Amino acid sequence: MSPDSPAITIAAFHDERTGTVSYVLADPATRQAAIVDPVLDFDLKSGRTATTQADRLLAHVAEAGLTVQWILETHAHADHLSAARHLQAHVGGRIAIGEHIREVQAVFRKLYNLERDFLPDGRQFDHLFRDGEIFHIGGIAAQAMLVPGHTPACMAYRIGDAVFVGDTMFMPDVGTARADFPGGDAATLYRSIRGLLALPPATRLFVCHDYPPDGRAPAWETTVADQRARNIHVHDGVSEAEFVALRTARDARLEVPTLILPSIQINIRAGQLPPAEDNGVSYLKIPLNTLSRQ
Ligand SMILES: [Fe+2]
Repeated sequence: MSPDSPAITIAAFHDERTGTVSYVLADPATRQAAIVDPVLDFDLKSGRTATTQADRLLAHVAEAGLTVQWILETHAHADHLSAARHLQAHVGGRIAIGEHIREVQAVFRKLYNLERDFLPDGRQFDHLFRDGEIFHIGGIAAQAMLVPGHTPACMAYRIGDAVFVGDTMFMPDVGTARADFPGGDAATLYRSIRGLLALPPATRLFVCHDYPPDGRAPAWETTVADQRARNIHVHDGVSEAEFVALRTARDARLEVPTLILPSIQINIRAGQLPPAEDNGVSYLKIPLNTLSRQ
């Protein structure tokens, strides 16, 4: 990536309900754009989806006159449904995720006992990134980086001096993401984070979630230097063994996320709802007594 490539513009959209931050990135010269981690609203009580968040992104795309080239997922989220398929139907773009999504699909196909036609080979996405793969948003080069640990398929996307880190790190006062989902691993997460923190100190890091402590407004942008100095879980000096002990102890106390069963079911399908049954209605499954914790 050339250091003198033009800067990408970054618009952030915070979803208060799930704490998710979605981004629209654009090359100002060509107006080609990428959307990162879009949210489809979902009300668990009524089983209704809605597009309030997605509509904000679409309004921005229209206002700025952007052409959507990519819809990038950092991973198969467990806290919100992806609006990737909905956005694609409106503005196009290729839906992409890391190639290890196949492992995640295989685990959850089994858990949900999904239909035979659901193949865990990533075909639901338009593109699967390899670690280190270079791609372009308009004329600006970007790099997909494999950062496993939270899930085995997590990717970060690096564009110039900005990195979209997904659920590896959160803001310095929040720390890091859990590593106890299927295929997650605290030591692996530590190594992925240290890899990101080896980037130049001024590198800007954009997180996928913020769960602000009392009194702090939601925030999503930090730097490598800031994380190395202040991140409560992984600041410089915290060893892998210390991190693994801390992360494992914390994860043992965390509840299963409210939307994990609906979310993963949609997100391993790239945001597509499950096939409708013969009455035209699409259903989600809740496997009983299979997840390991309450
Ligand atoms: Fe996540």
